[in-house]
Amino acid sequence: MGTEEQGGHKTAGASNIAPATGKLGVMVVGLGAVATTLIAGVEAVRRGLAKPIGSLTQMGTIRLGKRTDNNSPKIKDFVPLADLNDIVFTGWDIFTDNVYESAAHAEVLNKELVAQLKPYLETIKPIPAVFDQYYVKRLSGVNVKKGKNKRDLAEQLRADIRAFKKTVDRVVVLWAASTEIFITPKAVHQSIEAFEKGMENNDIDIAPSQLYAYAALTEGVPFVNGAPNLTVDFPAMVELSKRNAAPICGKDFKTGQTMMKTVLAPAFKARMLGVSGWFSTNILGNRDGEVLDDPQSFKTKEESKLGSLDYIFQPELYPDLYKDLYHKIRINYYPPRGDQKEAWDNIDIFGWLGYPMQIKVNFLCRDSILAAPVALDLVLFMDLAKRTPELRSIGIQEWLSFYLKSPQSAPGLYPEHDLFIQSMKLKNTLRHIMGVNLITHLGLEYYD
Ligand SMILES: NC(=O)c1ccc[n+]([C@@H]2O[C@H](COP(=O)([O-])OP(=O)(O)OC[C@H]3O[C@@H](n4cnc5c(N)ncnc54)[C@H](O)[C@@H]3O)[C@@H](O)[C@H]2O)c1
Repeated sequence: MGTEEQGGHKTAGASNIAPATGKLGVMVVGLGAVATTLIAGVEAVRRGLAKPIGSLTQMGTIRLGKRTDNNSPKIKDFVPLADLNDIVFTGWDIFTDNVYESAAHAEVLNKELVAQLKPYLETIKPIPAVFDQYYVKRLSGVNVKKGKNKRDLAEQLRADIRAFKKTVDRVVVLWAASTEIFITPKAVHQSIEAFEKGMENNDIDIAPSQLYAYAALTEGVPFVNGAPNLTVDFPAMVELSKRNAAPICGKDFKTGQTMMKTVLAPAFKARMLGVSGWFSTNILGNRDGEVLDDPQSFKTKEESKLGSLDYIFQPELYPDLYKDLYHKIRINYYPPRGDQKEAWDNIDIFGWLGYPMQIKVNFLCRDSILAAPVALDLVLFMDLAKRTPELRSIGIQEWLSFYLKSPQSAPGLYPEHDLFIQSMKLKNTLRHIMGVNLITHLGLEYYD
């Protein structure tokens, strides 16, 4: 048994995790603001020009043993993660701009830094994409594949993945492309067979993101969905993920407003403070904002952003506190702001005897600056999951909920949104796969 502060669980140990030797290929779908900030950022860190702030895998530590042991190694020294120097990027986009041109267009990073990185960034040129304007109304592009049906297009994506695989040792696919229209799971999503038939029949409910996911998972490659579209969160993909030992996780990077929400809401609930209203509004002027200006893409984002409060507050358990909560989210496209989004939250809370109070949160954030480290960590942890026998065949990696607005969990299990529970779950998963004691934070042993 471990001590009281540590759980008693000791597991088989790390010896069976394959080492992160060789190159990790990262195939990014959508070489826009987030992707180019990630790629340029990783290169800047590799050259010692900047620090990977915001990345848990690069900056974070993990406590092992008792608080008195003073043993908190860096996460990247504790678990075998791919080194940033071993990452090789490529990607698909509907535009022909290389990563230098796209980074310059996005105007997230300053011109001097982008110019310094130009020789590297311009070597990454987009592979022709699978795209259909029906699913992203505000965009049209020229760098797009043609195929006789959706299955044929998915096969072309598989061929892209296989070709890239020949040049690296392992691959992860990351969706950092635009938000597609709102789609709910239908019969076609219920099994691999139905999905494959649906691709042959050009089923309208099969969006391009699903074809990328199908291609990756069929090739045994982990797939991360940074956007809120219906992409891997249905039975056919869960089955494919398990069958091919290709990890999946939830969707939609949890970066700004929702990250704050999943910090504040657990605090109110922990103190049994009531909440009667939560109004969240945003202005942003990047291409993502333009896409989200379309009502059907906005609906996809809205659903993803709405989920967290209901799960955290559990109104069925606490009707006096949260039953009548009015939760509203707005996103407005406002070009002058570019990627430098502004979010406001007005929170109407109530305390002892029902007396009302208000909280205002005004977050002037930078969307892609917040998203890039989240994307990096997800890629590195999904690669770790693929090399870890205990994790690679379970399909959904719930321990990565920490990074996502819409965490995915096993059927019948409600998703965990509380950022601090998610953080604990992530770190305990790392301890578990490395065969060291979990930490429960009980701590009575210090008072023996
Ligand atoms: N930045 C954040 O904080 C944040 C948080 C959560 C989610 N997201 C999501 O991440 C995604 C990327 O955001 P962004 O700001 O980089 O957007 P962006 O518009 O700058 O980039 C998206 C890119 O995807 C490309 N694209 C669209 N459909 C494609 C397809 N089918 N195949 C290949 N490429 C395609 C577009 O041409 C564009 O270059 C969006 O869906 C956004 O909602 C961002």
